[in-house]
Amino acid sequence: MSTSLSGRTALVTGSTGGIGRAIAGLLAERGAHVIVSGRHAERGAQTVADIREAEGKADFVQADLMSADSVRTLAEQARSVTGQIDILVNNAGTFPEGTTTDTTEEVFDAVYNTNVKAPFFLVAELVPAMIERGAGVVVNVSSFAADKAAPDRAAYSSSKAALNNLTKAWAKQYGPSGVRVNSVAPGPVLAEEIQAMIAGDPRAAAVTDALPARRFGLPREVAEAVAYLASDAAAFAHGAFLSIDGGAGLA
Ligand SMILES: NC(=O)c1ccc[n+]([C@@H]2O[C@H](COP(=O)([O-])OP(=O)(O)OC[C@H]3O[C@@H](n4cnc5c(N)ncnc54)[C@H](OP(=O)(O)O)[C@@H]3O)[C@@H](O)[C@H]2O)c1
Repeated sequence: MSTSLSGRTALVTGSTGGIGRAIAGLLAERGAHVIVSGRHAERGAQTVADIREAEGKADFVQADLMSADSVRTLAEQARSVTGQIDILVNNAGTFPEGTTTDTTEEVFDAVYNTNVKAPFFLVAELVPAMIERGAGVVVNVSSFAADKAAPDRAAYSSSKAALNNLTKAWAKQYGPSGVRVNSVAPGPVLAEEIQAMIAGDPRAAAVTDALPARRFGLPREVAEAVAYLASDAAAFAHGAFLSIDGGAGLA
């Protein structure tokens, strides 16, 4: 079974930076035409330029995923660039710290709109055409925190638990129509430059000392898992939760 994504089209939300940028880069490297998306056009243009420089195919569609309307517009604009979307990666996320009593309604809404509502309405917009074609892939980027009691990030961890439940519901509902829905759960991941900047910081050491891997992950390591689930090599994966977390999710 092939890991090639040649001839496929992909929409990767939150690909102006971080993990999403690595996902967009790797999907393009494997042959997909990628729609890069996020709020920041300059960072989106940089992601697109890097992909094109490596002879990949990419275009940027700006979107703030705070409302169902903007999500629908993103789906429409993405489709108008590539004709159709074969692979949807729900990666955009926001993860503010805060206990339940510290979290304002505004912050709560930002977390749930970006992490739950946007994937929900993107699936509603894009999956029907995948069903018609009898083929398509959705990969949701969750978190090791989804299954943990995380009092200092209660809104965030509960939003990822909601996304995990949606992954299961969608996998069950759409799998028989040829649409596979799976999830990747990263642990603490930082870009190489940031890892170099914080080397020696005791707060960083406290995080890595608690991990079986004894280090932070890299965006590319999460991207590899997403690219696998997006490919035909994962044809029998339905409703899978792939932890790429250095062991952070272990009890
Ligand atoms: N890094 C980790 O340690 C870690 C661990 C577990 C899970 N995760 C998950 O992995 C995913 C990516 O995380 P990351 O670390 O790469 O985060 P990041 O570096 O902060 O990047 C987040 C991306 O999401 C986009 N985004 C945020 N809010 C948005 C909005 N309202 N509308 C549209 N785009 C929005 C940002 O683009 P703009 O700023 O251009 O809008 C950016 O491209 C998230 O779902 C996160 O929960 C990360």
